[in-house]
Amino acid sequence: MILDRFRLTDQVAIVTGAGRGIGRAIALAYAEAGADVVVGARSVDQIEETARMVRALGRRALPVRCDVMERADLENLVEATITEFGRIDVLVNNAGGSPPKPALRTSEREFENAFRFNVTTAFLLTRLSVPKMVETAGGGAVVNISSVAGRENAPGIVAYGTAKAALSFMTKELAQDFAPRVRVNAIAVGSIRTEALGTVLTPEIEADMVALTPMARIGEVEDISACALYLASPAASYVTGEIYGVNGGLVGLNMKLPRAFEGA
Ligand SMILES: NC(=O)c1ccc[n+]([C@@H]2O[C@H](COP(=O)([O-])OP(=O)(O)OC[C@H]3O[C@@H](n4cnc5c(N)ncnc54)[C@H](OP(=O)(O)O)[C@@H]3O)[C@@H](O)[C@H]2O)c1
Repeated sequence: MILDRFRLTDQVAIVTGAGRGIGRAIALAYAEAGADVVVGARSVDQIEETARMVRALGRRALPVRCDVMERADLENLVEATITEFGRIDVLVNNAGGSPPKPALRTSEREFENAFRFNVTTAFLLTRLSVPKMVETAGGGAVVNISSVAGRENAPGIVAYGTAKAALSFMTKELAQDFAPRVRVNAIAVGSIRTEALGTVLTPEIEADMVALTPMARIGEVEDISACALYLASPAASYVTGEIYGVNGGLVGLNMKLPRAFEGA
């Protein structure tokens, strides 16, 4: 049955930023597909809630408080996974983000923090997880949550866009390093209805976004979790080093931010 190739029966997945939004949806999709899930983020009440939802789907869950910016937390996340489940099959580097900000008001520290949050943390956690995947499961899959902002150029997002572009490129580099044992792919996410997007959405901005999106709607978290399930599953066993666009068909950004010298 072709649908059997989309199952993750008895696999173990680590998902960062799984307390809400896209990360929670991916954790639930993996649980539905048969995986046990390690749920990492900083807010304990939120990761515990995701863990409860995973258990309600009949799978085991381990909530682990983790700030991906802290190396010790990343090490603990991997160690706790091995202690609890004895293996790692899938890693989703989902925690990330950075608000839009004009280039001339973006400080050196903000630029470097965006890079660390979106790229270096994914590199570190991948480097910690991949040897364990090979050792305990013979191989595995990494899914990085990137953005269409890392592919299309636009004003007002230099730190975020540059960082996500690096995450997408790193995905391709690591796919070459780790083939044929561990596949590494990314998703170029578009505008998805989550708390993070909610911080910039007004009814006017939403109407503009929809008008500029070929598929004429804001995306839902399940649009992303469906792709993340495919990329983690045996259905994608011949896919590595790819950046899958799940963004309603965008060929440019759907948010209009001002240029530095507009109106000057
Ligand atoms: N939503 C969109 O439109 C969109 C578009 C393109 C790309 N993306 C990407 O999708 C990913 C998820 O975004 P989202 O929209 O689902 O965001 P969200 O709803 O705000 O959820 C973010 C999750 O990450 C966790 N998190 C934040 N900082 C963290 C840290 N330092 N360490 C560990 N976990 C942390 C949050 O929990 P705590 O705060 O409790 O830690 C939360 O569980 C991000 O990489 C983002 O760049 C989103």
